[in-house]
Amino acid sequence: AVYPVIMAGGSGTRFWPLSRHLFPKQLLRIIGDETLIQQTMRRVVHGAPAQQVLISTNPAQAESIRIQLVEWKDEIKDNFVLEPEGRNTAPAIALAALELVRRDPDAVMLVVPADHIVKGQKEFDAAVKLAAELAGQGYLVTFGIKPIRPETGYGYIKPNKRITVGKQGKLKGHPVSRFVEKPNAVKAAQYVKAKDYYWNSGMFVWRAATILEEIRHHQPALFKGIERIRELMQAGGMRGAIDEEYKKLAPVSVDTGVMERSTKSAVVPVAFEWSDVGSWGSLDEVAPKDKAGNIVGGRVVDLGSRRSVVYGDRRVVATIGLTDMVVVDTPDATLVCPKDRAQDVKKVVDILKQQG
Ligand code: GDD
Ligand code: MG
Repeated sequence: AVYPVIMAGGSGTRFWPLSRHLFPKQLLRIIGDETLIQQTMRRVVHGAPAQQVLISTNPAQAESIRIQLVEWKDEIKDNFVLEPEGRNTAPAIALAALELVRRDPDAVMLVVPADHIVKGQKEFDAAVKLAAELAGQGYLVTFGIKPIRPETGYGYIKPNKRITVGKQGKLKGHPVSRFVEKPNAVKAAQYVKAKDYYWNSGMFVWRAATILEEIRHHQPALFKGIERIRELMQAGGMRGAIDEEYKKLAPVSVDTGVMERSTKSAVVPVAFEWSDVGSWGSLDEVAPKDKAGNIVGGRVVDLGSRRSVVYGDRRVVATIGLTDMVVVDTPDATLVCPKDRAQDVKKVVDILKQQG
């Protein structure tokens, strides 16, 4: 059976400085009636019973998630896999996999970020179906998205197109010959130009047992930590002791920790529309724009800007003649950057954290 795992523990720092004040609320109004996590839940329960959906997050976010997913509250009440503190996606996925093999040794996991937009339920269901079949054969399955710009915030996948590992209608699966997570701008441009790379969608399908095995192989320290947690759980260990073990895990993403190293991965190039609303730069794929391609929010006076994102939270923001720029003003911080550098906002947040 397929068990969707909604990844909802990220900090969303790439929407700084707005993320502390208004994100995700503001963003959600931009893209529809439902919040992104509600849309994600609705998308996955189309193909799996709600009782099979796990939510991976931390106690700080769990309460608001429960409120947002109230429609399914009975089905998911025991399905929150809580991390005491974020350790990035590899430990979070390992913890969810541990819970799943306990419930069902043959469990197939469908890992989905809570913060993506997908359009095309039929296409999504079809892709999951093929992916689940490949997962059953032992593959770590990724969904390939056709790249449209040299985005440095994504993973890039090079398929081995000569080999087809599975087929369903128009959809095909191929072995992955290379996975590169967040390449620099020069490399990203090369990959987009080469035309034989896909973006990694950030969704994954694999057997819970397979991903644990791959973690054992490529991240032995993480695997040992997870084993200790499993033993504590089996012994009926206290939440506090389990949390202490989890906090000792080194943070690593599943992309660099496993996907870049694994030889067992496959990619299914998908037909659904996809957007990672992960940065100011990718906002324009989903938000309504004015005639000149600007996304404007709050108190903004603009003269002749093009393809820019301008947001004024409290004060008036005036912009003149900008092209492909981001300007976000909040009471205690202002961001100004070219759209294609929006990913680096994360670095700014890191520096601010260091400064305390
Ligand atoms: N539970 C939990 N714990 N969830 C987490 C944690 C954590 O510590 N860290 C991140 N997440 C969640 C985020 O909320 C998001 O839903 C998902 O895991 C992916 O994390 P991101 O931090 O958003 O990853 P990314 O966007 O930099 O990169 C991933 O997604 C790209 C596409 O959107 C990678 O898979 C890339 O290869 C991919 O291209
Ligand atoms: Mg993301």
